Amino acid sequence: MSTRRKFLKSVVMTAAMGPFTGALLPALADIRELPSPADVNGVQSLRAHAEKHGLLVGCAVVPERLNKEPQYAGVVAAQANILVAENAMKWKALRPAPDKFDFSGGDMIVAFASAHRQKVRGHNLCWHEALPDWFASTVTKENARQILTEHIKTVAGHYAGKLQSWDVVNEAIDPKSDRPDGLRKSPWFELVGPDYIDIAFRTARKADSSALLTYNDYGIETDAPDQTKKRAQVLELVRGMKKRGVPIDAVGVQSHLGATDPAPGNGLRDFVRELRRMRLRVFITELDVNERKLEGSEAERDAAIARIYKDYVTMMVAESNVDAVLTWGITDRYTWLNGPKFSRPDAKPQRCLPFDADYQPASAFFALRDALDSRPAKSHP
Ligand code: XIL
Repeated sequence: MSTRRKFLKSVVMTAAMGPFTGALLPALADIRELPSPADVNGVQSLRAHAEKHGLLVGCAVVPERLNKEPQYAGVVAAQANILVAENAMKWKALRPAPDKFDFSGGDMIVAFASAHRQKVRGHNLCWHEALPDWFASTVTKENARQILTEHIKTVAGHYAGKLQSWDVVNEAIDPKSDRPDGLRKSPWFELVGPDYIDIAFRTARKADSSALLTYNDYGIETDAPDQTKKRAQVLELVRGMKKRGVPIDAVGVQSHLGATDPAPGNGLRDFVRELRRMRLRVFITELDVNERKLEGSEAERDAAIARIYKDYVTMMVAESNVDAVLTWGITDRYTWLNGPKFSRPDAKPQRCLPFDADYQPASAFFALRDALDSRPAKSHP
């Protein structure tokens, strides 16, 4: 099928699915004609560089922006060969009521990606956050297991064959937990019990046999004692899963890095290598650099942020089982780091992503691109 026909087919399929579609047709059609800012500047995209090395590069996206903001959509189309939903595939978005599923946002991302030859990661099937308001009053010890498996069956079934990977379980380890295995006392843990993780992965595999099933977590990047401990607990978790024959293919290292934190180093590298010995892939799933505490001029801040992108991604892509790098957003115009929790004391906006708030490539863009280019041609065994 020609690209154009495939594109039309995906739009028509989406049109049958949900409420956003009135505006979807013209917006998607328009942005196909737009040159990307990177091309305008004569600068080659992250995507072009990643593809030379067989790597995936991309970002978290918001479907309404892909639909309504041509500049945003243009940059995402030009730069990424893989997308992930920032919020659109979480329980809160998909489950307006206990008996209802709303796939409109997620479907829009999948349609956009298929129109632009991009892969999609699913995020996520099971997490202690972003649960719908009805959750607390509806889910009990008696029905939790059934509600969890039903959700995974329906959602992973809906997207079966369309996703590169799923974050099946997100953030299940909490080093502050009093349990030696570090399992977080999440609603799922409390209501289903510690085997909720195995259940989630087994159910996901049955519903979608092609997506790579991923365990995703944060705070496992640096050699600080709490992060070292958490890494060991994550390793134990996935080792146990492998031993029990639970289907898991990859670990997601979120990589929300802090500009003033110690630089990730040997601990993370050893972790990635240990996962390789267990035949697991590793994805950088949510990279950004929180520069809340960074002082100095804009140029100094940009240089420090770029260095972190460069050093971190260079270290990671040197490992042959690391093959995807996704940032948590693409432009400083829209980043969760400008929310109240992470805003800078001087109230200046964070400069944490590859494109600045005006969609110009930032120093971080060039740093990330150089890092992708550093991927060794021949991977070690
Ligand atoms: C964040 C989103 O970026 C925000 O828009 C939302 O309000 C809260 O969640 N780890 C994750 C992501 O796995 O899902 C989180 O995303 C960021 C931290």
